[in-house]
Amino acid sequence: MILLNIQTSPRGSKSISIAATDAFVEAYRTAHPDVTVDNLNVWEEGLPEFDSEAIGAKYKGVAKEAMSDAESAIWRSIQSLAARFQAADLIVLGVPMWNFAYPYKLKQLIDLVCQRNFLFTFSEGKFGPLLKTRNAVVIYSRGQTYAEQSPTPHCSTIKKAISTFGFTSSA
Ligand SMILES: Cc1cc2nc3c(=O)[nH]c(=O)nc-3n(C[C@H](O)[C@H](O)[C@H](O)COP(=O)(O)O)c2cc1C
Repeated sequence: MILLNIQTSPRGSKSISIAATDAFVEAYRTAHPDVTVDNLNVWEEGLPEFDSEAIGAKYKGVAKEAMSDAESAIWRSIQSLAARFQAADLIVLGVPMWNFAYPYKLKQLIDLVCQRNFLFTFSEGKFGPLLKTRNAVVIYSRGQTYAEQSPTPHCSTIKKAISTFGFTSSA
């Protein structure tokens, strides 16, 4: 089985969210020795920009229209990123709070892979799941408190995004 471990802090060994997700992954590996871990650190991945070519490729990909060379190249990158989500049996995501949101590189990843008919369907105004896994583990970190009433929009935005992909279980 494949566990996709998405890290979104650039702080490497100093990162709390990476330490927490790594601890989860190691415990999971102990319980499931057959697991293959695919590490995707959004800062080290060399993600393509989500720019004019990427948006052109997105619309032409959906409409099955001919793409320019630049659009085809970015579309291949998007497909290979999406394939890592499609292959995963479990997705683990570490999310630090940055200025009441999540790190902008994670938004870049979301905008790249959040493609209709890759990760989800959209028909008659409704989203439907396409990923084989319904399980995601999300581990949040922040400098301040998680007490009730404390604003945690990085949590609610991520919950909204992953529920679009059909996940029924996250933490
Ligand atoms: C650019 C930046 C913005 C931050 N903004 C907030 C914030 O709005 N609220 C908060 O509680 N912590 C904030 N923090 C603190 C981090 O959420 C906290 O240190 C977290 O553990 C960082 O995750 P990491 O250790 O995995 O990098 C911020 C940190 C950085 C670097």
